[in-house]
Amino acid sequence: MIIFLSNISWWGWILIALALIAIRDIFIQRKHTISHNFPIVGHLRYALEKIGPELRQYLVANNREELPFNRIERGWIYASAKKENNYEGFGTDRDIYAHHHIFINNAMMPYKIDENHPNSIDKTFLPCAKVMGAYHKRKKPFRPASVINVSAMSFGSLSAKAIESLNKGVKIVDAYHNTGEGGLSPYHSHGGDVIFHFGTGYFGVRSEDGGFSMEKLVALVENNPFIKAIEIKLSQGAKPGKGGVLPGAKITKELADIRGVEVGKDVISPPNHKAFSNVPEMVDFIEKIAIATGLPIGIKAAIGKLEQWEELADIMVKTGKGPDFITVDGGEGGTGAAPPSFADHVSLSWVYGFSDLYKLFQKKGLTERIVFIGSGKLGFPGKAAMAFAMGIDCINVAREAMMSIGCIQAQICHTNRCPSGVATQNKWLQNGIDPTLKSERLAQYFKTFKKELIEITHAAGYEHPCQFKMEDVEINVDDHNLSKELNKTYMYEKTLVPFTSMQDLKDCLYLGGKIS
Ligand SMILES: Cc1cc2nc3c(=O)[nH]c(=O)nc-3n(C[C@H](O)[C@H](O)[C@H](O)COP(=O)(O)O)c2cc1C
Repeated sequence: MIIFLSNISWWGWILIALALIAIRDIFIQRKHTISHNFPIVGHLRYALEKIGPELRQYLVANNREELPFNRIERGWIYASAKKENNYEGFGTDRDIYAHHHIFINNAMMPYKIDENHPNSIDKTFLPCAKVMGAYHKRKKPFRPASVINVSAMSFGSLSAKAIESLNKGVKIVDAYHNTGEGGLSPYHSHGGDVIFHFGTGYFGVRSEDGGFSMEKLVALVENNPFIKAIEIKLSQGAKPGKGGVLPGAKITKELADIRGVEVGKDVISPPNHKAFSNVPEMVDFIEKIAIATGLPIGIKAAIGKLEQWEELADIMVKTGKGPDFITVDGGEGGTGAAPPSFADHVSLSWVYGFSDLYKLFQKKGLTERIVFIGSGKLGFPGKAAMAFAMGIDCINVAREAMMSIGCIQAQICHTNRCPSGVATQNKWLQNGIDPTLKSERLAQYFKTFKKELIEITHAAGYEHPCQFKMEDVEINVDDHNLSKELNKTYMYEKTLVPFTSMQDLKDCLYLGGKIS
């Protein structure tokens, strides 16, 4: 027998293997019709389907084709983060006549800064022009020291090393780091300013019965003075109105301790909050937290129907109470995991959602007391200028921040197999991340972003992007006669943010929430 087997040639072995596969395809397996009907060759289809995304990404797709972020956008982030040459030669490769292309109207002569101007000293100094909590006289008002910040992404959806890199990175550039809904972890505690964010799971501030614990929140804020504000999540663009399940298998001892849940047991985040059931109750909840912690309180949501927002605005006018900031997430926003039907269709895209909401609050005379934060693919200087022209005061970036620390847009955050180690709990995959190096990358991306945003602002004749008006930006609806300024497209004028000078922002007592 051994002699017989050793006489079989290599191609004989291949034929035997193929014959066995064919027998398995036709007679044994019942799951795949294609393999049954086309034994052996049917496998090719599955193999090609599996590597299709990579083939398209690396070989086939053109520079501007991919979504969510195309190659030029990703390349700009990677080059900026590595402080490499992020310019392009030979002019734009964008079709600037395309629908929804934006144009920023430059001034005949740019804004001139003298040698003592804060931006002559630091080309990236760009704090928020509004103070969170100033109108409601919170005990600890907070002027974010950077208009570009890290958006909500939890420890759990991101790896420990990714969170650590982001936190160390925001510290370098005086930005803030939003915790996302997974609670405050030790990886958020490397010195960066933090906005503590919670959703319906109340992770980190959760009572025994899965509700909200004010005692835990107060203790958390007292023990961690780097928490500068609190954000209550109502919804997010990728899955508004959808709760979530954190499978027990993923709940390690560390995650359980941070989130305040049991090891190995499934945890449900319901679609609704237990702490309030309607808009007046939500306003009371916000006030109670603000009084107990002294911090500015905000809400985060994706926008669709406006009736409840109108109710909120009416309550704010009548009572003088309400959120200090509102984070508007676009329907194009990302997440760790969401059903495509939600990600694709539920809630409006950022420009539509934000313009609807801003108009509503403006009609009631409320824009000056709210810090508006935007998120939804706004992590690029041109897009940011448009968002400022529409009324935004700060921008949160999530996936762009992930890319700056090495994410390659593999789009498998939901599988725990993220090849770059950014969105996985797999220790081996995370080990490739060096938080010191990656924190510098995040910081460098933010620096380049702010520098280019300031340069665009100066090109338009302004000192601070808060001075952008709707008519400073045009959007293509067809040819030039039909290209419309933002005010004519979205049908409102922005209320101008009171702004004196960059120097006054630099001298502000509340800059970075340093004085309480
Ligand atoms: C991996 C990941 C985790 C996220 N986790 C949260 C979260 O815990 N809470 C939340 O409100 N939004 C969460 N988001 C949404 C982001 O904060 C952000 O609103 C959205 O991705 C849009 O910003 P971007 O276009 O800059 O990514 C998450 C996004 C990603 C990519």
